[in-house]
Amino acid sequence: MATAKLSVDGRDIDLPVVEGSEGEKAIDITSLRKETGYITLDPGYGNTGSCTSDITFINGEEGVLRYRGYPIEQIAEKADFVEVCYLLIFGSLPNADQLAEFKQELTYHSLLHEDMKKFFEGYPPTAHPMAILSSMVASLSTYYPEDEADLHLNMVRLLAKAKTIAAFSYKKTIGQPFIYPKNDLDYCSNFLHMMFAVPSEPYAVPEVLRDALNLLLILHADHEQNCSTSTVRMVGSSQANLFASIAAGVCALWGPLHGGANQRVIEMLEMIRDDGGDYQKYVDMAKDKDSDFKLMGFGHRVYKNFDPRARILKRTADRVLEQLGHRKDSLIDIARNLEQVALEDEYFVERKLYPNVDFYSGILYRAMEIPTQMFTVMFALGRLPGWIAQWREMRSDPGARINRPRQVYTGATERDWVALDQR
Ligand code: ACO
Repeated sequence: MATAKLSVDGRDIDLPVVEGSEGEKAIDITSLRKETGYITLDPGYGNTGSCTSDITFINGEEGVLRYRGYPIEQIAEKADFVEVCYLLIFGSLPNADQLAEFKQELTYHSLLHEDMKKFFEGYPPTAHPMAILSSMVASLSTYYPEDEADLHLNMVRLLAKAKTIAAFSYKKTIGQPFIYPKNDLDYCSNFLHMMFAVPSEPYAVPEVLRDALNLLLILHADHEQNCSTSTVRMVGSSQANLFASIAAGVCALWGPLHGGANQRVIEMLEMIRDDGGDYQKYVDMAKDKDSDFKLMGFGHRVYKNFDPRARILKRTADRVLEQLGHRKDSLIDIARNLEQVALEDEYFVERKLYPNVDFYSGILYRAMEIPTQMFTVMFALGRLPGWIAQWREMRSDPGARINRPRQVYTGATERDWVALDQR
């Protein structure tokens, strides 16, 4: 077995080298503290592998992304989102019978318990749908406790009901009646129907919207150990149930440096438009170290050349925007100009800051008339199968332990308590 030598306090120790199936190498430091008293320090975890995983492979330098070995480019071209859910969670592509059965399960579990509808009444109309989504997902555990149901069924329930929760949370904000799922519609069409139909007239789901949503969900379906997925694994490592773990992942995704970026991209473009459209001013601001401003939708922790998902979406965006007839949206023009300027600017080139998937997904969702506040919810719907797959993989690992990082303490050393009247 290959080893790496570490020299510490005048002593050499050999640490095993672990090699992944794509040749990625890691130094296994499991014995480090026991043997040396040292820990590693890696704020932001840029060099830390928290697990081994069979689910998703990323090579950030080369712009490679594969689910269970299949390149994202092929999946994006050929797959249906439900097939991708199956692939990620169960590890292989479903055959025709397996796929039909899985689709049937996801269709027949999409209704919410009627009592859950009452929860929506308690939220103010301005409630952010991510807050509603995370609370509702956690609440599913009150209806379907883990010890009373088999895990497969709870995974199905979560995938099936999350889209209903998401659509209901939107209907709540605009004061329209909830539209129930229809069993003759596929997964994506059903969601769009619940979002956009009203009881007073028929609604046919436009194919272009269905296909665009299918692609967007697929491109977000998993991304190995990102912030929200690590959160799901972290919470799940305490043996918290599936719904609780995923609700935590939803909260982690909400932040603007992660899934919340797609909402912030549009808000940033609107800000630039309302300020007269001078995008160069905002590029300059993003470069200014005295300013906190960042170009939302640019940069990625892992991709340092291009984000393959962004590349696919960029190609698709033109076609879809044309089909949707939204070419005259002034935000799209600002987005294109901003992208051009940033791609040529030395600051962005040097730091390898490229538009990420959220840059284009925000633009596409806007063209699809998904409200801006719902963008991160759309990301969460896409990421669900990845979270479930990662949670399931962790929980079925016999060697899994509760996640418990250490720290280097830098606070005050021991000192005596000071009485209140002497402070
Ligand atoms: N605009 C301006 N400067 C940036 C940006 C940006 N969007 N992103 C990074 N930088 C700069 C940093 O200031 C830093 O500069 P320095 O070296 O002079 O100090 C350098 O580029 C490296 O950036 P880090 O912050 O170290 O990169 P990190 O890997 O920690 O962060 C992140 C990655 C969070 C995505 C960051 O690029 C960012 O905040 N982007 C905007 C938010 C965004 O789009 N998030 C979505 C991520 S994709 C997703 O979740 C699907």
